[in-house]
Amino acid sequence: MDDLSPRPGDLDAIETASIDELRALQTERLRWTVRHAYDHVPHYRVSFDAAGVHPDDVRELSDLARLPFTAKADLRDNYPFGMFAVPREQVVRLHASSGTTGKPTVVGYTRADVDMWADVVARSIRAAGGRAGHVLHNAYGYGLFTGGLGAHYGAERLGCTVVPVSGGMTERQVQLILDFRPDLVMVTPSYMLSVVDEMERQGVDPRSTSLKVGIFGAEPWTNDMRREMEERLDMHAVDIYGLSEVIGPGVASECVETKDGLHVWEDHFYPEVVDPVTGEVLPDGEEGELVFTSLTKQAMPVIRYRTRDLTRLLPGTARTMRRMEKITGRTDDMIILRGVNLFPTQIEELILRTPELSPHFQCVLTREGNLDSLTVLVERRDHAAPGAAAEAGVRLRQLVKASIGVSVAVDVVEPDAVERSLGKMRRIVDRRPSR
Ligand code: DLL
Repeated sequence: MDDLSPRPGDLDAIETASIDELRALQTERLRWTVRHAYDHVPHYRVSFDAAGVHPDDVRELSDLARLPFTAKADLRDNYPFGMFAVPREQVVRLHASSGTTGKPTVVGYTRADVDMWADVVARSIRAAGGRAGHVLHNAYGYGLFTGGLGAHYGAERLGCTVVPVSGGMTERQVQLILDFRPDLVMVTPSYMLSVVDEMERQGVDPRSTSLKVGIFGAEPWTNDMRREMEERLDMHAVDIYGLSEVIGPGVASECVETKDGLHVWEDHFYPEVVDPVTGEVLPDGEEGELVFTSLTKQAMPVIRYRTRDLTRLLPGTARTMRRMEKITGRTDDMIILRGVNLFPTQIEELILRTPELSPHFQCVLTREGNLDSLTVLVERRDHAAPGAAAEAGVRLRQLVKASIGVSVAVDVVEPDAVERSLGKMRRIVDRRPSR
């Protein structure tokens, strides 16, 4: 794999500024944001007033903790444009969440927001090892989802040649990778696995392609998955994080030279980690729910937005800005099985340590009587004989019991039997009757 570390002078000045400079910039931007939200979004005025805080009370970054949280429900209650802080005419772009449950959440961007977003995604791609002149295959979905267009604008901003493939038509994805010889690919890790499988089906050696880096995000994935990708594709695999409510992709990103968690671009998005139950702010290093306050957004500032993503904040390494550890999972995706909490990422790690099993898996929840059960549906690898794969399934069950402390069933199925995603993979299938 190539050394893609940045050259001196490649980075934005703020990426290597001193902590004091960064904190001063954040403080100034926070004051502006809080005032902007209070003055222009009725929801914030009402919620600040109810909490007895006024924008003038926010002088330091630590004052942030006095402000109330914002939740997805607040965005839904203000559907579609009620959270906007600028007249609708100044909004040049809308995106929305899929809204599988109830109304979707809508987000808006001014021209300056779209510009800032392109900047942070460009910064993310550069952190991943991307450069002007690289060809970038973008297989994140285009449309209301922020992945496709977010990556697209950032890649153009950096000066890449963008191939706007979007998700799906896997055979064609492979064809275009062979024909256009991209240096970079941006896609969800679960869909990349489908693309790699397709390469192998076509007799193409995935290690022989032109790809140097995969920039994977939009869903949780583990360091074991990184090893799988890097090994199978002979390229770097780095993580990119974001959420529509905050901006989209490009809130935080990993540096290719360290691969030690994602640097939060905290000159634009101020992170906190809180106890998911009490809401108490936790010190850096402790795991909890990630909360973001936008610092420069015009159209839809967010104040203390609860992401439901679980991680911890760590000091900066390759950059001044703090890192967040790879996301363990979302509070909504936590499975509570007979009193034990577990996340699909923990299952992913154990599967990837079992050579006969492929990383195509789902966690299926069922209930008999009052008892919940979890079945891990996982494919055998092509090269593993069915008998050996069945034995591996037994070993996986023992591994889960030993390391997570809970009994699950493991169902090893044939290659291609587990549902495929074109974007975010549905890891949990809940077949329990609703109470
Ligand atoms: O998934 C934005 C995005 C697009 C990020 C492309 C990265 C790449 P939403 O659809 O609003 O936005 O979903 C946001 O996805 O709260 C996390 O639960 C999850 N997520 C996003 N990136 C990661 C990641 C986009 N790198 C939700 N690791 C977030 C783990 C991620 N989970």
